Amino acid sequence: MEWWALLMGSAAVLCWLWFRREKIMAERLQRSGIPRGSTGWPFIGETLDFIACGWSTTPVSFMDKRKAQYGKVFKSHILGTPIIVSTDSEINKVILQNHGNSFVPAYPKTIRELLGENSILQMNGNLQKRIHALIGGFLRSPQFKSQIVKDVEYSAKLTMACWIEKAGSILFQEEIKKMTFEILVKVLMSVGPGKELEILRRDFEEFIKGLICLPIKLPGTRLYKSLKAKERLLKVVERIVEERNFLIEKSDGNGSIKDILDLLLRDMDEPNERRHISSNLICGNIIEMMIPGEETVPTAMTLAVKFLSDSPQVLKQLKEENMELRRQKTNSKEEYSWMDYMSLPFTQNVISETLRLANIINAVWRKTMKDVEIKGYLIPQGWCVLASFTSVHMDEENYENPYDFNPWRWEKIGPVVNNSNFTPFGGGQRLCPGLELSRLEISVFLHHLITTYSWTAEKDDIIYFPTVKMKRKLPVRFTPVTAT
Ligand code: HEM
Repeated sequence: MEWWALLMGSAAVLCWLWFRREKIMAERLQRSGIPRGSTGWPFIGETLDFIACGWSTTPVSFMDKRKAQYGKVFKSHILGTPIIVSTDSEINKVILQNHGNSFVPAYPKTIRELLGENSILQMNGNLQKRIHALIGGFLRSPQFKSQIVKDVEYSAKLTMACWIEKAGSILFQEEIKKMTFEILVKVLMSVGPGKELEILRRDFEEFIKGLICLPIKLPGTRLYKSLKAKERLLKVVERIVEERNFLIEKSDGNGSIKDILDLLLRDMDEPNERRHISSNLICGNIIEMMIPGEETVPTAMTLAVKFLSDSPQVLKQLKEENMELRRQKTNSKEEYSWMDYMSLPFTQNVISETLRLANIINAVWRKTMKDVEIKGYLIPQGWCVLASFTSVHMDEENYENPYDFNPWRWEKIGPVVNNSNFTPFGGGQRLCPGLELSRLEISVFLHHLITTYSWTAEKDDIIYFPTVKMKRKLPVRFTPVTAT
């Protein structure tokens, strides 16, 4: 027999054996309940397709393709990890609720390295629950609410007045970050505008650049620079903590709680324990709490401006509602309250629709601590699980014409709480404690923007990878308007 015929024959046999093995494996998996799917190429898995879809205008196409092939829950291999992806809202709900502590956060290596093991974003069990409850309780307290309304109003008005002074367009995405960072640092540790805030801003920006990078920790690498920036940040925060500890001791622990730093320091009863926790846990956590708050709120505001610029009908109704509130306040000469901003129905629908379409946190990553069975699927112990929020938010089964910016849809859907098809702030045990604060910041910002200024935004596109942002940082030109 010719050598080539032998080669072809062997290749055909090998192919047949490979396909048969795949078929048997798939059948076995199906019987065991482990979701079907492909782990792609050796080492890289399906990462290239995942990233390519992320760069496109339809990032959800990665999920959609596999959903059509294997169903709403499938197996894949992305960013170096074999993973089970859920695009099913009921399964996502079970993952988020995390009864019996079956799921723990599982971030990629660089994020884990930068966060540190004591970060609230990574910790589990009672300490996470305690810190979560403390922060949530403080951010919902009436004292905090009445103070923060004034702070956000002040920052918003000042920031917009500065934009008018600058001739020409501003890069909205960059400029709005300055305002939201100032508010965040105030909520965390009451640092006001000045040199200290600028140092924190500079080092924090350097720190978060390393969250998505190669996991190589050598001088000159991105990860190394970010870790150095975190060391500098820690020094500043440690000094602030020391000063605050001194003040608390001087006042014998009396006095009202003005920020999250105060809250965490006062929660520690034993003076010795307080000292231990201040250096090891509180400082790190104050920095790490900046991560979920820093990018998210300004991104939501940027996309709200983008969607409104492209939707004149929405803008018109939003303006009418906000002008009415402004007229009431001018006539009554009363100050605005938290409820004034949060109970504007159309404005809240605009915010919900922005959050749905923007998908700022597109998914959460978890790892199973034991075998978990949900809706007939088996997720074996030790596997990573990605609960995809974007897929649920962009699913035609859940939202009619999901790619349209349509705030009116929320009039039919109703309240956004307890809705497992709408999870921009996550849910269950780790539901974002900054949820109401974020909605308030966006409401105050939109109210003063819409009632005081008009604007024109230059054409720009949204990119979704590695995080959601505008390609050209959204250049916008603002002009003051006179109230009618
Ligand atoms: C539009 C704005 C925001 C969005 C979309 C958002 C989204 C989220 C999501 C999805 C989670 C859950 C993560 C998980 O389950 O692993 C989360 C957690 C968290 N967020 Fe937010 N967030 C926003 C604003 C904020 C702000 C302003 C703060 C700070 C005051 C904040 C503080 C936190 C903290 C501390 C956690 C961790 C909670 C825990 O694990 O116990 N977030 N956020």
